[in-house]
Amino acid sequence: MTQVQTHERQAIPGVKQTVAVSSGKGGVGKSTMSVNLAVALAAQGLSVGLMDTDIYGPNIPGMMGVSERPEVIPGTQSIRPVEAHGLSLISMGLLVEPGVPVIWRGPMLAKMVSQFLFSVAWGDLDVLLLDLPPGTGDVQLTLTQMAPLTGAVIVTTPSTLALEDVGRGVQMFRQSEVPILGLIENMSSFVCDGCDKQSYPFGHGGGAAAAGTLGIPFLGTIPLDINLRTGADDGTPAFLSRPQAPASIAMRGICRSLLERLV
Ligand SMILES: Nc1ncnc2c1ncn2[C@@H]1O[C@H](COP(=O)(O)OP(=O)(O)OP(=O)(O)O)[C@@H](O)[C@H]1O
Ligand SMILES: [Mg+2]
Repeated sequence: MTQVQTHERQAIPGVKQTVAVSSGKGGVGKSTMSVNLAVALAAQGLSVGLMDTDIYGPNIPGMMGVSERPEVIPGTQSIRPVEAHGLSLISMGLLVEPGVPVIWRGPMLAKMVSQFLFSVAWGDLDVLLLDLPPGTGDVQLTLTQMAPLTGAVIVTTPSTLALEDVGRGVQMFRQSEVPILGLIENMSSFVCDGCDKQSYPFGHGGGAAAAGTLGIPFLGTIPLDINLRTGADDGTPAFLSRPQAPASIAMRGICRSLLERLV
């Protein structure tokens, strides 16, 4: 097994903790978890930054309701992050025209990720959350090599296919000596409108079982909740617009579990 080189990692000035939100499989809810976790951490009084490292499919600006272009701070080569819902954020989606695809090869991706880490004036942050693209590709490799990651949070659904990919993600972080802070099982259950019956469309209990098998902490489950989707589409995370929604209540628990592992 090849050991990933980690010697180039340098600290981000003023940033205390850097946490990657990752998944092996696409579409399991990384970006949704990232924005809601970020605002949940901010609600605890922490200063929080959110970095969208999904260069090809940047969803964070839409989910946070911003389109403002970040500016270069006069007389410097630093970019000022954009403020939204009490967070500082940066995303490729704020730097290109809406709807225009980014078509880059690996080395350019790596350069952009490095600029997001080190050329953005993040200021003093308690936590910088990084929303990753799916899989174990160039962006993940650059981050594990260059970013001073405190650890990684892995998102999965209870489906067998998603759970299989959890193992690959865990292995990647372990090879890079990045601690796994825990696993979130998203879309874990569903309560239909007006029937109150809980069902498990993607399977039941797989996340906790996988965490046990892999020897990583289990941070908790988030149900399928329409408020998460409408919040993402409307640009205000459900945690803020619907604090009593089932997913927001569950996210408070996950935020607490994560904080216990961060301090
Ligand atoms: N618990 C949930 N309940 C309802 N909808 C959800 C939930 N989690 C995510 N979604 C919705 O599922 C879709 C995919 O979520 P999201 O974009 O966060 O996934 P992702 O893992 O970041 O995807 P990608 O791999 O493409 O980056 C979005 O429309 C989102 O609003
Ligand atoms: Mg995403």
